[in-house]
Amino acid sequence: MGRPIAMFDSGFGGLTVARAVIDLLPSDDLVYFGDTGRYPYGPRAHGEVRDFAFQISDWMVAEFDPKVLVVACNTAAAVALDGLQARYDLPVIGVLEPGLNSLLSVTLTGRVGIIGTVGTVASGAYQRAAEAVAPHVDLTCAACPGFVEFVERGETESEQVHVLAQRLLAPVIDAKVDALLLGCTHYPFLARTIADVLGPDVVLVSSADETAFSLMRAAGPVDEFGASERRGTHTFVSSGDVDMFARLGRQLLGPELDTVVAHRWSSS
Ligand code: DGL
Repeated sequence: MGRPIAMFDSGFGGLTVARAVIDLLPSDDLVYFGDTGRYPYGPRAHGEVRDFAFQISDWMVAEFDPKVLVVACNTAAAVALDGLQARYDLPVIGVLEPGLNSLLSVTLTGRVGIIGTVGTVASGAYQRAAEAVAPHVDLTCAACPGFVEFVERGETESEQVHVLAQRLLAPVIDAKVDALLLGCTHYPFLARTIADVLGPDVVLVSSADETAFSLMRAAGPVDEFGASERRGTHTFVSSGDVDMFARLGRQLLGPELDTVVAHRWSSS
């Protein structure tokens, strides 16, 4: 067995990235950590999210000796990616840059939107990155507090989440964007509701596929699209309720998520 890909998120959101990675690199081993014992990260102070990201990454690097680390959480990547890249002697991939690149590649009008958690939007990380690579685009960012909680309850298409989406997406509707980046890895699970509210003229962009392609480039020689017979192992670890993680996670990711291993932080 080779060295695995290690990936983490505050909870279920990173499973959108895990799905894309399993599909693109099926012979790779993957270890996924969902910090459901401490989610959501979005409303927390940046320093606290950074501490969590370092704690999880230190543990994953020591425990699994991964060949690459994927921060499958926009909130954590927005505040900790640079620090994590400096900390380890291995590639560390975030979701912001791949997502932004996809967004810029699909807009025709140059009016684009990014939605994310309060932490991500307040960090200014997307705004700075967009200013650096595409200063000509007209970017509208909107925080969507509450979306993550709906996903973590498995409630992705209810009347309540629809009403919340109508309210929170008003700024991007008013800005007449033609492309919207789902700048939180939980949000692709709400894509149907978001698309209903925005209508057919707005292209929704998820960072999952583009992150998987970045990972493929960073991880060195790989067995793209599973040319070899080998099927990778997929290990899921949660700091919260493992039965709930297995039940909802399987619904969201698919059959690869069969068992979930518990991990307890000594302070939680
Ligand atoms: N899925 C994460 C993100 O991409 C975090 C959501 C949260 O825990 O608030 O931002």
